[in-house]
Amino acid sequence: TAPVSVPRLRKMKSEGQRITMLTCYDATFALAMDRAGVDTVLVGDSLGMVVQGRDSTLPVTVDHIVYHSAAVARGLTHALLVADMPFLSYATPERALDTAHRLMGEGGAAMVKLEGAGPMLESIRVLAERDVPVCAHLGLTPQSVMKLGGFRVQGREEAAAGRLRADALAVQEAGAAMLVLECVPRALAAEVTRSLDIPVIGIGAGVGCDGQVLVMHDLLGLRGQHRTPRFVKDFLAGTDSIEGAFSAYLQAVREGRFPAEEHGFD
Ligand code: KIV
Ligand code: NA
Repeated sequence: TAPVSVPRLRKMKSEGQRITMLTCYDATFALAMDRAGVDTVLVGDSLGMVVQGRDSTLPVTVDHIVYHSAAVARGLTHALLVADMPFLSYATPERALDTAHRLMGEGGAAMVKLEGAGPMLESIRVLAERDVPVCAHLGLTPQSVMKLGGFRVQGREEAAAGRLRADALAVQEAGAAMLVLECVPRALAAEVTRSLDIPVIGIGAGVGCDGQVLVMHDLLGLRGQHRTPRFVKDFLAGTDSIEGAFSAYLQAVREGRFPAEEHGFD
């Protein structure tokens, strides 16, 4: 089958086919998840935590993402590669263009992901106008951890829910091709998903999104130094291989069996 493209993701949404995404940081795991048939692979700045053992994603650099992205790209033949823009690497449109150039040119990414709306809308607009596919990321944005004071569900109060609805429309309007919603109450995430034309990928955002993403280590039941969030499920339990765990996750997402009620927030 043809490699996954940006228009293909949009078509999947319009046809009601759920989109699958996994994070990945090296070529061998990339090969395994690509073979299992994942649609999109994210070189997340979560690598700061799961690969580098840091307490947050803030110390991750563009060089780090380029290094891991290039490795992952060599393992993929089918899935679309998304790479995270690190903290402050897209704070101005000029920096965003430089970062995207490196992630796509050296890293082999087909899409770049950045957190937030508001002041970031200009960066989204400038990238999109220059044909850089952008994935926005709203809800819990881990690069805001110092401001937020921790990792917790976002959009529970009515004012925050209203801001999220408006931000989601604004990133689409600015030209984003996809949106990740992290740790958002399931009803709100479903509502935002219905309100947008672009695909919405959830993590801790309920089953009502157009697709799902999980950090690879979490899916494999690996416990890190940090508390495992409730939206995580160990897909290695019940299978006997890593590729089997990837396949079980992909099938559960496509059939709407993951996330279940217990993985989401009210
Ligand atoms: O860095 C990451 O892994 C992410 C996903 C959790 C969406 O941004
Ligand atoms: Na990230």
